[in-house]
Amino acid sequence: MHIGVIGAGKLGATLAEWCVESGHDVAITSRHPERLDSLVERLGEHGMAMPVDETAKYADAVLFAPGWPAAREAIDMAGKALTGKVVIDATNPPAAAPGGVSGLETLMSWAPEAHWVKAFNTLPASVLTRRRGHDPLLAEFVCTDLVDARLTASKLIRDLGFAPVFAGRADTAKYVETGGPLQMTEVDVQDATEVLAGVLGDYV
Ligand SMILES: NC(=O)c1ccc[n+]([C@@H]2O[C@H](COP(=O)([O-])OP(=O)(O)OC[C@H]3O[C@@H](n4cnc5c(N)ncnc54)[C@H](OP(=O)(O)O)[C@@H]3O)[C@@H](O)[C@H]2O)c1
Repeated sequence: MHIGVIGAGKLGATLAEWCVESGHDVAITSRHPERLDSLVERLGEHGMAMPVDETAKYADAVLFAPGWPAAREAIDMAGKALTGKVVIDATNPPAAAPGGVSGLETLMSWAPEAHWVKAFNTLPASVLTRRRGHDPLLAEFVCTDLVDARLTASKLIRDLGFAPVFAGRADTAKYVETGGPLQMTEVDVQDATEVLAGVLGDYV
């Protein structure tokens, strides 16, 4: 696939490197793509840097990893190019107020034409690096309302050496985001169903 990575920080750069290693072609971006030369060199011939809108245009699927305060700006910079694209949201917004919407739902309201899915946000890149590809595989929680987004995110999660575990629709994303019970929770794939049942049982 052509993967567009929006946000070239700790998480975005790490995921971009793994995408290339897994056989994908990657365009990565930030507000300053001209400053990404050393990262692009590390990515090799299957990596490049582009402006945000061109990255979104290039992508079959987008990994969305700017800091939360820059999320709206990044969406605006991508513009219409996100239309119809699967966008995998790895951001962590401030904790949702009780009864409030998830960060994923907020992004969906800002760019409703994109096919949003939450993943890769619960654990630091250092933990993902330690666990990547090792048995037992690390569960990577996926939340979305859309089947195509779920399938695309799940494929990429597998390609990168983790086990996708569907955790629910977009409103459930608050359980994996900041302040949620699954945030910073390292779960082996064989334990994921039980952990998820416990969490959802406590919160619904
Ligand atoms: N770090 C982790 O281990 C980790 C793990 C799970 C989830 N997350 C989440 O992932 C997100 C990114 O975290 P991080 O630690 O990687 O942050 P970071 O190191 O601060 O990187 C943020 C990146 O976003 C870019 N950016 C800022 N505004 C942008 C815009 N308008 N359009 C495109 N790119 C923009 C920044 O570059 P410029 O300033 O040059 O634009 C920078 O490359 C956060 O929401 C965080 O909660 C992080």
